[in-house]
Amino acid sequence: MSSVKDKITDFAGKVYSSFGSVAQEKTERAAAEKTYTPEMQSALRRVAAEGAVLLENNGVLPLAEGTKVSLFGRVQNNWFYTGYGSGGDVNRPYAVNLIEGIRNCDKLILNETLAQKYEKWCSENVINDAIWGKWPRFYTEMPVEDITVASAAENSDCAVVVIGRSSGEDRENVLEKGSYYITDDEKKMLDSVTASFDKVIVLLNIGSIIDMSWLDRYKNKLSAVMIVWQGGMESGNAVADLLCGNVSPSGKLTSTIAYSYSDYPCSKSFGGKEYNYYYEDIYVGYRYFETFCEEKVRYPFGYGLSYSDFSVACNKVSTSEDGFLFDITVKNTGKRPAKGVSELYLRKPTGELGNPLRSLVAFGKTQNLNADECEELTADVSFGQLASFDESGKTGNKSAYVIEKGEYEFYLGTDVRNAEKIFSYYHEETTVYEELSECVPPELPFGVITAKEKDGKIIAVTQNCNGMTRNLKERILSSLPEEIPFTGDMGYKLADVKSGKVTMEQFVAQLDKNELEALTRGDYTMGSNLGTPGNAAVFCGVLPSLREKGIPAVSTSDGPSGIRLRASCSLIPIGTLLASTFDTEAVKEVYSLVSLEMKEKGSDVLLAPGMNIQRSPLCGRNFEYYSEDPYLTGKIGAAAVNGIQSSGGSACPKHFACNSQEYKRTTNDSRVSERALREIYLKGFEICIKEAKPRNIMTSYNKINGVWSYFNYDLCTSILRNEWKYEGNVMTDWWTKKGRSPDFKDVRDQGYRVRAQVDVLMPGGDRSGRRKPDGTLLHKLGKGGITLGEIQRSAMNVLNFAMNSTAMKD
Ligand code: BGC
Repeated sequence: MSSVKDKITDFAGKVYSSFGSVAQEKTERAAAEKTYTPEMQSALRRVAAEGAVLLENNGVLPLAEGTKVSLFGRVQNNWFYTGYGSGGDVNRPYAVNLIEGIRNCDKLILNETLAQKYEKWCSENVINDAIWGKWPRFYTEMPVEDITVASAAENSDCAVVVIGRSSGEDRENVLEKGSYYITDDEKKMLDSVTASFDKVIVLLNIGSIIDMSWLDRYKNKLSAVMIVWQGGMESGNAVADLLCGNVSPSGKLTSTIAYSYSDYPCSKSFGGKEYNYYYEDIYVGYRYFETFCEEKVRYPFGYGLSYSDFSVACNKVSTSEDGFLFDITVKNTGKRPAKGVSELYLRKPTGELGNPLRSLVAFGKTQNLNADECEELTADVSFGQLASFDESGKTGNKSAYVIEKGEYEFYLGTDVRNAEKIFSYYHEETTVYEELSECVPPELPFGVITAKEKDGKIIAVTQNCNGMTRNLKERILSSLPEEIPFTGDMGYKLADVKSGKVTMEQFVAQLDKNELEALTRGDYTMGSNLGTPGNAAVFCGVLPSLREKGIPAVSTSDGPSGIRLRASCSLIPIGTLLASTFDTEAVKEVYSLVSLEMKEKGSDVLLAPGMNIQRSPLCGRNFEYYSEDPYLTGKIGAAAVNGIQSSGGSACPKHFACNSQEYKRTTNDSRVSERALREIYLKGFEICIKEAKPRNIMTSYNKINGVWSYFNYDLCTSILRNEWKYEGNVMTDWWTKKGRSPDFKDVRDQGYRVRAQVDVLMPGGDRSGRRKPDGTLLHKLGKGGITLGEIQRSAMNVLNFAMNSTAMKD
């Protein structure tokens, strides 16, 4: 349980590093150098438009050239460009709202009288979003009288109504008007606008899915509805491009929109104070809806309209030793230029293990295609993607990925619902794909849902997941690393290891206990004066004696939406928008440009991407994350990491793992079966790590099955390093709780963490600003506590990273 003191210091710590307060922001912005590049501006504008998801369109969009537009909703002026907290708090050089975007667009005419009325009212009714954690989730609307609406209708051709929502870290969205639901004022505005205008377009400037039942009230009165998300500093220009048809929307939903919140399978087990049982198991999002209750879906996963139409067809399937290769043709069968998306889903047999009726196994996006133009795409599906994890040995293969005997059907289409069977493969005998060992299971079994076949139908039944059977203590003791004998300073520098003159072991042998301790923690505070102004924390060369040995101080900065420093940096679209593009190349391009900025501004590690699964629409940080689907999350995450690391910078995917809830995030226990953990909550990280080799990874605040992730040996050693062969550095999320290992009574706090190979505590002090070494790492060193070899092992993980970081090159 967190104490009141915790809360105060947490808040203080954040304010210290925050550049988002109104007064400060103004000063910062005035001082901001305009160092963004035209390439960055055009990439952001393009991607922000391409991630928009068009839900409804009766043909009104795109608007004809010369259309006069009346904008409603104050968000047209006070646009939500990003979310709040570390994932959005970028000192942006400028930001274009919708009013400016339409003004900049030479194809549309703005109803200036109305826009100026909004601008004036907004300047008199200023928003205060300066207090950490108390950010407004919505902005109070300007009252619009019917007469104003009627006069706007007379003087323009169509209405665009904007509804906006925001959220941030450390706090969830709530089932209240102004958060998950629309407000009475918004309803009033929609009533009034739909009564006067024939053409009404609703734009949702949101970071996370909201309730959409208001659509039923306005049924045929709305001409189009589009989610434009929070698109970063080029938002307004991007939305204007969409409205006038310069760009066709080509975004797809990355999470299902159900009719009601209570339809989501986690709705009863999300938001717990001390723990949450993940009852829905692997049936997260569309895996649940498509398998058990299709009728609860308003808009399915992968759905999104275009201004054109597309057909997707499979021409050929080839089988190799590794899996299947699908040759796919995507054709623009409509009338306008647009990009098309193909989505390939797999239906596994129900088998002994029970499987969802659909899982995304590949996706692709075309270039901009003209009418009648085609593009050939290929989709690779490995045999591994056919396998399911058998946690208990139901197939006779405990703790293994198994391909069960039976029919594997592939469905190709443009969303999960709209996909035709194109191929099927029969697996003759149940085979083991990968033998692993039991890791991070819940202590005790609990009931989870699974799919069973009964009378030819798939039904949901509850069964117990597997509880823990293996002994962690023995496993840790049997794989303790050798101790490297201390030599004292031999004059070796870290560059000598890099050039191959000495080994890493020879270098580390020189370090005394204090130096080793300092390598396993960051500098004590956020905004360390060893790093670039505004850094989130600094690690590696945090002592003069370490720097004398050529170990650089490495600067980290948030985060997913751009670089959060005192200097001005580009604000990019939120994670959910980026993932909605279903375009890995576009995501990589944006982060490659961020990577160039990192070099220029002096950030060595970007604390991004955010890769937690969007388990519930209420999670306050959904905007930073990608999807309810682990495959999409992994692929988009890998693209982000490839971009961030393209110019030498380092990425840091986070929060490893199960940080799908913000409420009580530092104490909450995610209780989840090993199968769901591996197939859903870790899978995205696994794909990203294997494909893109991030140089860092950040653990989460929460516990997983009773153990905080930063003390979790199985998570951070057995799975991450031994199974996935991860070779980088592991850091904590900002500060940790105290904890004693249940297996080793003399191993606690920092020792407990380093034993798990969570190499660096970030920042190195505690929330109260303590500025001296924490004795718990060296407590009973070698006498029942952690061994010197383990500390040296973490030091080597850190140094291997540092040696190849931009800090070293500098
Ligand atoms: C967040 C991280 C962030 C860190 C540094 C934490 O509160 O959870 O995502 O990177 O702060 O700002």
